[in-house]
Amino acid sequence: MSEDVASHYSSDSDLTGVIADSLRRAGKDMDRLTTADLATVDEFHIRGRKATLELAEFLQLGPTSRVLDIGSGLGGPARTLAESFGCHVTGIDITQAFCDAATALSGWVGLSDRVNFRQGDATRLPFGDAEFDAAMTIHVAMNIAAKDRMYAEAKRILKPGGRFVVYDVLQGEGGDVLYPVPWAREPSISHLATPDAVTALLSNAGFTILQVEDSTEEGQLWFEEVAKRMAIAAPAVTFQAFLGNDFPAMARNQVINLRERRIRTASYVCEA
Ligand SMILES: C[S@@+](CC[C@H](N)C(=O)[O-])C[C@H]1O[C@@H](n2cnc3c(N)ncnc32)[C@H](O)[C@@H]1O
Repeated sequence: MSEDVASHYSSDSDLTGVIADSLRRAGKDMDRLTTADLATVDEFHIRGRKATLELAEFLQLGPTSRVLDIGSGLGGPARTLAESFGCHVTGIDITQAFCDAATALSGWVGLSDRVNFRQGDATRLPFGDAEFDAAMTIHVAMNIAAKDRMYAEAKRILKPGGRFVVYDVLQGEGGDVLYPVPWAREPSISHLATPDAVTALLSNAGFTILQVEDSTEEGQLWFEEVAKRMAIAAPAVTFQAFLGNDFPAMARNQVINLRERRIRTASYVCEA
């Protein structure tokens, strides 16, 4: 199952090269890249960098904080935190090609000393108990059936009182999801939980839930803009670099999924 998830996300063996080529084609100077230049491809979730910065405010970060990003993808959220707060972020992701690209992209923007990435499974974290001050997971649990194990692992690696933010795509009340979507081309690797189920899972893992925020409406407007831009002219640097030619269909489906509330997005601020 985890191989199916990894192969969904990484059809190209040289993802780093593909991203570098698309940045050059977009006229970017590879010697003067900034994290903002990468944001259209490396913040791989609804509402992008803006959502990451909103979540980060709840993590109580400072320069000495050690943070774990569970399901770190291309490393955009980890770099955003490291750059904004000076903290150190470790990213873990099941997809090796994403970990390799995340490491390369961090070097391009001069953040290699504050972030690191390794391949691994969110349900079996390769870290000791209470190693991290804070943790986050953004748009990952929808690929994971064993969410009880995922959240129990997040609780285990956090220091008591450490903050954990979860921002995910959830099952809505409007009917079955239309595929393909960015996290799955068909239902076998899609495991959406309802908002109430996530609340129960986080509580059962031992977290105190401090705040829950539904962002479906805002997410819908964001995806409508993405789909509109792509219908006119696809930006040079996008998720298409790794999702391939399916991405326009995924974006169109996401607009319908959000509009008809087949899916919802919500964030949960928790304390270990
Ligand atoms: C939609 S992407 C989000 C990436 C990143 N969090 C972001 O917001 O930019 C989902 C990520 O979850 C990762 N993932 C899925 N299942 C996982 C698992 N069991 N353990 C670790 N990572 C997983 C995928 O490889 C992919 O990188």
